[in-house]
Amino acid sequence: MARTAELQFPMASEPMVGALLRALAASKPAGRMLELGTGTGIATAWLLDGMDAHSTLTSVDIDSTVQDVADECLGADLRLTLVNADGVDYLRSQNPDTFDLVFADAMSGKYDGLEHALAVVKPGGFYVIDDMLPQPNWPPGHAEKVPVLIGQLAANPNFRILPLVWASGVVVAVRR
Ligand SMILES: C[S@@+](CC[C@H](N)C(=O)[O-])C[C@H]1O[C@@H](n2cnc3c(N)ncnc32)[C@H](O)[C@@H]1O
Repeated sequence: MARTAELQFPMASEPMVGALLRALAASKPAGRMLELGTGTGIATAWLLDGMDAHSTLTSVDIDSTVQDVADECLGADLRLTLVNADGVDYLRSQNPDTFDLVFADAMSGKYDGLEHALAVVKPGGFYVIDDMLPQPNWPPGHAEKVPVLIGQLAANPNFRILPLVWASGVVVAVRR
């Protein structure tokens, strides 16, 4: 059964990453948050737990089957909007400088369309990624992409980055 569940559901954010997201969300009163890759809503729940009553969270996933689980558990929270869409398509539809926090937990907005994800972060806002340390579900060839992504963030003059060799491997980038 455990193996079946592992195959059916995406890798959920681990508790230490969730606690970090919750703290960052709490630092943005009346903030606008964006998650790319809702999955079943683990990180969504952490973000909501950090947000104040005036903050909002939009969470995007291309797979309505997993997102329906998040909807069932968290959909009654009026601060949350679940969007069933491709992450890069969603990012392209947004104005620049829109979000106080972007958690990119899909290939979209991370390895694909990074520039669109960074463009929607407000000055002073956070762009957060995890799974920078080796993960059991990485496909062949993925490991080589990780230092390239971190290098792109480090070289971006509009962001200051904090790479954390901690939990699943996290980078917090702050828009200047
Ligand atoms: C690592 S899981 C997200 C885990 C989730 N944030 C959590 O904490 O439980 C990645 C998710 O990205 C979604 N995804 C994959 N490709 C996508 C795309 N092009 N656009 C949006 N979401 C995508 C998958 O359906 C999957 O649910």
